[in-house]
Amino acid sequence: MMNIGFLASHTGSNMQAIIDACKVGDLQASPVLLISNNRDSGALVRAKEEGIPYCCINGKTHPNPEELDQAILDVMLEHVVDIIVLAGYMKKLGPKTLSHFVGRILNIHPSLLPKFGGKGMYGMHVHEAVITSGETESGVSIHLVDAEYDTGPIIAQSRVPVKTKDTPEALAARVLQREHTFFAETLQKIVTGEIMLPTKQEGNETV
Ligand code: GRF
Repeated sequence: MMNIGFLASHTGSNMQAIIDACKVGDLQASPVLLISNNRDSGALVRAKEEGIPYCCINGKTHPNPEELDQAILDVMLEHVVDIIVLAGYMKKLGPKTLSHFVGRILNIHPSLLPKFGGKGMYGMHVHEAVITSGETESGVSIHLVDAEYDTGPIIAQSRVPVKTKDTPEALAARVLQREHTFFAETLQKIVTGEIMLPTKQEGNETV
């Protein structure tokens, strides 16, 4: 069984969708941990309700960035996490966590990266920019995480149409709905070997 450790900052609906896929057997993996930086996040409530170990680690609990990085790594190791899933996590990861889990940290982004990614491109900003640019399609990207926002190698993408007269909210809802199935499907392809994550040697050793 692949042990999943989540990092999430807000609602946690993607985390929930993955947990649900595990419960019904569509995804052969075990959700073993949630770390949130936001003590008021819906993700923490969901983990508690699901009986999944959880904790809050952030700049208040660990003001020193190196200690914060080490704390995240330690808890992931303590729970024997195989793969880290960022499900709406709004912080960068530190070098120790990135290095230990190189090639085994995934993020989901609500656009067809490299378009509409990077600093400031989150939440409704993404969908507003897609519509303003006159794009006819948007989508979902799942990529490996490196030290920057949304720049790691893309593992899988799914296209979602942008409809005439779409509002950012309507597009956001359509993309999020796709995220909820696509993340678990992609993880299952990793479990079966249909999608191969890079080995440690192929990953970015410099992070
Ligand atoms: C999703 O749109 C995801 O693509 C982005 O953050 C959002 C998280 O939503 N990285 P939720 O917390 O899973 O509902």
